[in-house]
Amino acid sequence: MRLRHFTLVAALTAAFPLFATAADTPAQQPWMNRSLSADQRAELAVKAMTRQEKLRWVFGYFGTAFAPKGTTPPKGSIPFSAGFVPGNPRLGLPDLQETDAGLGVATQATPTPRERTQLPSGLATASTWDTQMAYAGGAMIGSEARASGFNVMLAGGVNLMRDPRNGRNFEYAGEDPLLAGTIVGHAVKGIESNHVISTVKHYALNDQETGRNELDVRIDKAASRMSDLLAMQLALEQSDAGSVMCSYNRVYGTYACENDYLLNEVLKKDWGFKGYVMSDWGATHSTAEAANHGLDRQSGQEFDKSPYFGGALEEAVKNGHVSEARLDDMATRIVRAMFAKGVVDNPVAQGGAIDFAKNGAVSRATAEEGAVLLKNDNHVLPLSKDVKTIAIIGGHADVGVLSGGGSSQVYPVGGNAVPGLEPKVWPGPVVYHPSSPLRAIKALAPDAKVVYDDGLDPARAARVAAQADVALVFATQWIGEANDATSLALPDNQDKLIDSVAGANARTVVVLETGGPVAMPWVAKTPAVLEAWYPGTSGGEAIARVLFGVVNPGGHLPATFPVSEEQLPRPKLDGDPKQPDQQFTVEYKEGAAVGYKWFDKQGLTPLFPFGHGLSYTTFSYAGLASQVKDGRLHVRFKVTNTGNVAGKDVPQVYVSPLSAKWEAPKRLAGWDKVALQPGESKEVDVVVEPRILGMFDEKSKTWRIAKGKYKVVLAEDAAGKNATSVTVDLPASTLDVRGRVRR
Ligand code: BGC
Repeated sequence: MRLRHFTLVAALTAAFPLFATAADTPAQQPWMNRSLSADQRAELAVKAMTRQEKLRWVFGYFGTAFAPKGTTPPKGSIPFSAGFVPGNPRLGLPDLQETDAGLGVATQATPTPRERTQLPSGLATASTWDTQMAYAGGAMIGSEARASGFNVMLAGGVNLMRDPRNGRNFEYAGEDPLLAGTIVGHAVKGIESNHVISTVKHYALNDQETGRNELDVRIDKAASRMSDLLAMQLALEQSDAGSVMCSYNRVYGTYACENDYLLNEVLKKDWGFKGYVMSDWGATHSTAEAANHGLDRQSGQEFDKSPYFGGALEEAVKNGHVSEARLDDMATRIVRAMFAKGVVDNPVAQGGAIDFAKNGAVSRATAEEGAVLLKNDNHVLPLSKDVKTIAIIGGHADVGVLSGGGSSQVYPVGGNAVPGLEPKVWPGPVVYHPSSPLRAIKALAPDAKVVYDDGLDPARAARVAAQADVALVFATQWIGEANDATSLALPDNQDKLIDSVAGANARTVVVLETGGPVAMPWVAKTPAVLEAWYPGTSGGEAIARVLFGVVNPGGHLPATFPVSEEQLPRPKLDGDPKQPDQQFTVEYKEGAAVGYKWFDKQGLTPLFPFGHGLSYTTFSYAGLASQVKDGRLHVRFKVTNTGNVAGKDVPQVYVSPLSAKWEAPKRLAGWDKVALQPGESKEVDVVVEPRILGMFDEKSKTWRIAKGKYKVVLAEDAAGKNATSVTVDLPASTLDVRGRVRR
């Protein structure tokens, strides 16, 4: 009887598809057959769709009420979520429930947010140089997304750090395309291991927040393929992400979300991307142009001037401005990602169990591995358990640790430790995770007298510091989405504070919780500096454990710390934060010479170089040898822990052409993360990604490796600490656009 009823509905569905509501039977849903490929399943499902049904997939809603337009949240969306696309129950395809972002499960502004685990900033994960750690972090936040009922994570931020003032640097993975692409690729893979679609974003060249909706990026095409686009390409190859989010800005005069070159030519044709392109929220600007130029889904349509992919797209398909085949392609890409990532076969549900203790430990491990010991004169660190008095100064270190603002904000279990700070609204609120460094420090030095001073009065703080054996100054810099840092200086008089405290106590340790690199005019006066980034849910414990040597810091900078803005390609950021709608052009004249490459090329000495990071032990390198084997450059060497404690090293391989011309003297070509007991050695074999050795030729769309001699440098940082080198002869070779050897 039941079957018959369904058969009848199915027959009606075929005849009058628009009126179909109940689900088809399994026999009539061949796309549910798990033994078919995602491509086959998507094709079958889309064939069974009416045009109306296809159109529903390409039109996304904000998951929350949108105040400027007075809209209510779409029916079925998870409260205060980022995005929603209604599913197709008739075909057994679930709703898409979308959440930000790369640091954990976020919540849009509300007094009653979801409380979830936040990873340390993306820069901290990148500082680990550890792909397994990146994967584990992604897997953890993906599991919380699933447990919260989300099957899409808007994670995967991999915009290159072209400017240390970019307000979203903390969501990204630094300045080097190989490191950033690899780390983010693994994080995305971790997220998607939960049968959740992840994105790679913001495509492309959205490298500053000032004027992000209007700025027009100009860069040599080949240079972009070797920098920003290479980071995206590598992240996509390594993750097979289900989706890419196109960005707000324009590139070569055209908005990224209707940019035929970026979307159709580079992403879909050259790289062979099979997933779907979703717009950023408010980044769609047209109907036929966007659809024909490669945008597959308008997101958060309330944010746009018009519901471009709603009725207008239907109209455009009807009158032929957008072909039915293109609409099929758009829907197929979306549904294919759902099958490929297991979203259909493993439906999500809200209310899943979350083990916050276990997930907090994952976040803590990342914070510990990602903290970078920038300076440690006279072995001021690690602190001894027997230290008698400790002064803790500033940064709200009595109660918590800072996080970055905007759509990626994850709200902590237990609430904001410092509520009420400005800005309270977008891109605020400013949120401190209630993981108190003070409490964690007391736990590790139970007999010490620990005093706290809020640091608001530098003279008073100096008096407190003078009384202590060691002074720990916590300095913070809050940045966020749509909110670049106005300068590299620490805000709120903190430079003065550090200077005063360092003047009063020779054992002053500065702990930085910053969104990116900052200037340190006081650095000569302070023996130790630890960059803890935004250290996430368990940041206070992580910082304490690094300070006391419970864990040995192994983080290395994924970005150059300049002395001042004067060293940057653009000492003054382009655009005017007060006029966000003003159109302007940003010329990336430095091309692919981003970060350390720029510093090398210009002969500049930074404050701290890319790759820098100290340890409580020391390492030595021996036996560097390099050869071309099976068409790949292999670099072999031995790393030894020459100190007294266990530690992790990040031996870095840089390559410099001796005759060929690159955009800069050298490029990072590979690395390893090696854990070693005192006295222990390990052999390392780094296989170099061949694209790193070539120059991209936009005309032929090939990577060309020039025949000649290349210097292979093994070092502890980009400035050549502990460097040894060998010379290798490379034969000429040509790789296709995806880096494969052309036969
Ligand atoms: C951000 C995206 C985010 C989206 C949804 C936008 O403002 O740029 O990164 O995923 O909002 O919240």
